[in-house]
Amino acid sequence: MPILVEPSIPEGSLFGIEQPVIEVSRSVSLRPWVNGDAAAVMEFFQDPLIQRWHVKRADSIEEAAGWIGGWQSEWLKESGAHWAVVDSGSDRLLGRIALKNIDLYDGTADLAYWMAASARGYGVCPNSVVALARWAFDEVAFNRLELEHSVDNAASCRVADKAGFQTEGIRRGSARHADGWHDMHVHSLLRGDSTPG
Ligand SMILES: CC(C)(COP(=O)(O)OP(=O)(O)OC[C@H]1O[C@@H](n2cnc3c(N)ncnc32)[C@H](O)[C@@H]1OP(=O)(O)O)[C@@H](O)C(=O)NCCC(=O)NCCS
Repeated sequence: MPILVEPSIPEGSLFGIEQPVIEVSRSVSLRPWVNGDAAAVMEFFQDPLIQRWHVKRADSIEEAAGWIGGWQSEWLKESGAHWAVVDSGSDRLLGRIALKNIDLYDGTADLAYWMAASARGYGVCPNSVVALARWAFDEVAFNRLELEHSVDNAASCRVADKAGFQTEGIRRGSARHADGWHDMHVHSLLRGDSTPG
């Protein structure tokens, strides 16, 4: 059966290119994950706040390395795109940002992120979201990015607001956490919406 509308993003738009390094600011960049990040990822996942909102922990460096392998492989499958947030000068790992559940036809993806406890409170996450959104809209022709967080996660809601995402509503009882079901707050940014800065 022929499709009547061309996909928003042609197949091969990601796997046909090398995953780029994206500059966030003079001191912060997004770069592809490397296997050597596994120890830091395992350490960051000891943080109760990361465990709370990401609902898992890594018990060994090998386990964290397995996650990194999964993140790397999604670029080739064009199903996800995952970056390490790093200090550009030292390459110190500051956090993670990703486009998950990529849909090439509709040009959509879901944003995910966490920051190491020591890197929080400096605006690194919202600035990274803005830089990634600009790349996604301008370089790949994504149409819509969605950002969802528990209604109890005020810091994540601030990230969405600061990055210019609009609020769409609440998906009731849609995500399971250690303490039960959470209502999830949905935000979105469309290509053409203005972003800060
Ligand atoms: C949510 C998170 C990614 C925000 O990243 P960030 O780079 O610290 O973002 P910001 O610096 O813009 O701070 C966002 C808000 O967090 C709060 N915050 C500030 N300093 C903080 C600190 N040291 N520790 C925790 N939260 C802090 C503030 O309310 C701030 O909002 P404000 O600008 O109105 O003051 C980060 O707090 C985090 O990794 N949290 C744990 C995991 C998580 O929640 N992941 C997201 C799941 S949807």
